[in-house]
Amino acid sequence: MANLEELLHQRLAPAFEAVAGAPVDPVIRRSQHAHFQSDAALALVRKIGGNPREIAARVVEAAQLDDLCSAVEISGPGFINLTFSDEVLARLLADTIGDERLAVPQAKDSEKIVVDYSAPNAAKEMHVGHLRSTIIGDAAVRLLEWQGNTVIRMNHIGEWGTPFGMLVEHLLDIGESEAASELSVGDLNGFYRAARVKFDADETFKDRARKRVVLLQSGDEVTLRLWRTLVEESKKYFLTVYGMLGVRLTEDDFFGESYYNDQLQSVVDELDELGLLRESEGAQCVFPDGYTNRNGDPLPIIVKKGDGGFGYGATDLATIRHRLRNLKATRLLYVVGLPQRQHLGMIYDVAKDAGWLVPPARAEHVGHGSICGEDGKMLRTRAGVSVKLVDLLEEAVVRASAVIAEKNPQLDEKTRADVARAVGIGAVKYADLSTDRLKDYVFDYDRMLSFEGNTAPYLQYARARICSIFRKAGVEQPLTGVDKLVITEPAERALALELLQFDSLISEVAETLEFHKLANYLYGLASTFTSFYEKCPVLRSEGDVKQSRLVLCDITARTLELGLGLLGIDTPDQM
Ligand code: ARG
Repeated sequence: MANLEELLHQRLAPAFEAVAGAPVDPVIRRSQHAHFQSDAALALVRKIGGNPREIAARVVEAAQLDDLCSAVEISGPGFINLTFSDEVLARLLADTIGDERLAVPQAKDSEKIVVDYSAPNAAKEMHVGHLRSTIIGDAAVRLLEWQGNTVIRMNHIGEWGTPFGMLVEHLLDIGESEAASELSVGDLNGFYRAARVKFDADETFKDRARKRVVLLQSGDEVTLRLWRTLVEESKKYFLTVYGMLGVRLTEDDFFGESYYNDQLQSVVDELDELGLLRESEGAQCVFPDGYTNRNGDPLPIIVKKGDGGFGYGATDLATIRHRLRNLKATRLLYVVGLPQRQHLGMIYDVAKDAGWLVPPARAEHVGHGSICGEDGKMLRTRAGVSVKLVDLLEEAVVRASAVIAEKNPQLDEKTRADVARAVGIGAVKYADLSTDRLKDYVFDYDRMLSFEGNTAPYLQYARARICSIFRKAGVEQPLTGVDKLVITEPAERALALELLQFDSLISEVAETLEFHKLANYLYGLASTFTSFYEKCPVLRSEGDVKQSRLVLCDITARTLELGLGLLGIDTPDQM
């Protein structure tokens, strides 16, 4: 599929350059008045003087546009309004027929990208923050892979450090097999809380826990084996959640904090050699520029504590160095909640100061807000403990099943179960991905499972309806063997134009990771399709017109399927 903005850019850029005597970005945008608009003439006046309308006229004069546009107009103070001709829209769209990628080319500069996401903590329940990270990270992985990048998934689980002294001691107290069975059924919170209660109330236990941390960090065999039990059982539980969610995280993607243990001392040494280390209150610290606490004192990343232990910050420094130096990734994504924005910013800055993070490599915090309950606070159950994720997801599927049974009682049981899963899980993911990720949102089953509005079921249903048009027509999907389209009606034109935006939208989202823009696009597409379908009969039309409208239906269905697929959402053929 052609990138419409890019097509116009290619034609206008040389014309602007000829007029200005230097390269100018034509700044092409969607417009209400025409298909696209360029307002670069206005900015250019500030540089070369003159009248913007005249400059626009000279640019239009110099540009070759007549083979693309049916109308080129200068409006207002000097906007260039551009309208594609029906023939061009038809021709561009015809390229997508029978093409799996909808004629979207692979990324021009594919690269190696690390995505750090999900990252729950072992022996602790995953909370909704981890759910967001998992859903957003999975969408990023799917999109960037689809573009042709090499994507490395890294699940930076928290399974090292002081809490594990207490957790291992608790495991010894209740017995290994009891502990394993508690953890494997996903009662991670119960286990953690019980350990915590003892730690807070019982001095001897506290003492044992402290000694155990030392044993763990010094590599004591027995301690390591017990620790591994905790970690392995937790991983099994996380994998069940990933399985339910249908995300691409696997056993092989766990690169937890402990993975970097034997790189920590060398990070200290290297930072020391570079002269970046400073001692502060007995600890070895780095102080990246520009970070201060409330009193205006510089904020440190503690690299090595006074007792010789390493913390979260040290691990993140080893991690970023590993990703850049050993994995040679050029784009590092950290899908982590907004409260860690400052921490990550400091890590990136130290990595720059140390010369590890140098262009073209870059690190980005793909931050996100939280999921709230109806009270506007972070989602928790009534007892005040965080929600168990499996329960939350199971409930979505149960509710979806009821909604589907009501909507389409004819579905056989097996199909209904499959559809309920796709709709329930899809609804949870879509509610998340369709909100600006920097914002919080309220978790609301009724809203996310509604067939009206910007929801997964609405979009899934829109696509399933198109599939049923094809079943009625007795035509196989994807449609092949058609090489020509005719576009004459305004509703056909509007739909074609919308479909042709997919390519540029995908490039934008791959850059910004603002998945709500992809969601909004799909929602807009489904609505545009609905008005097309109301105004332009498909099955009751004939000949070329029928063929052509079937093509529009087919490409719409496949764009919805592909778009939702990139968000990690399944699309049942009937529902
Ligand atoms: N385990 C951490 C938490 O639950 C998230 C880790 C994010 N990734 C990282 N490289 N720091 O808050």
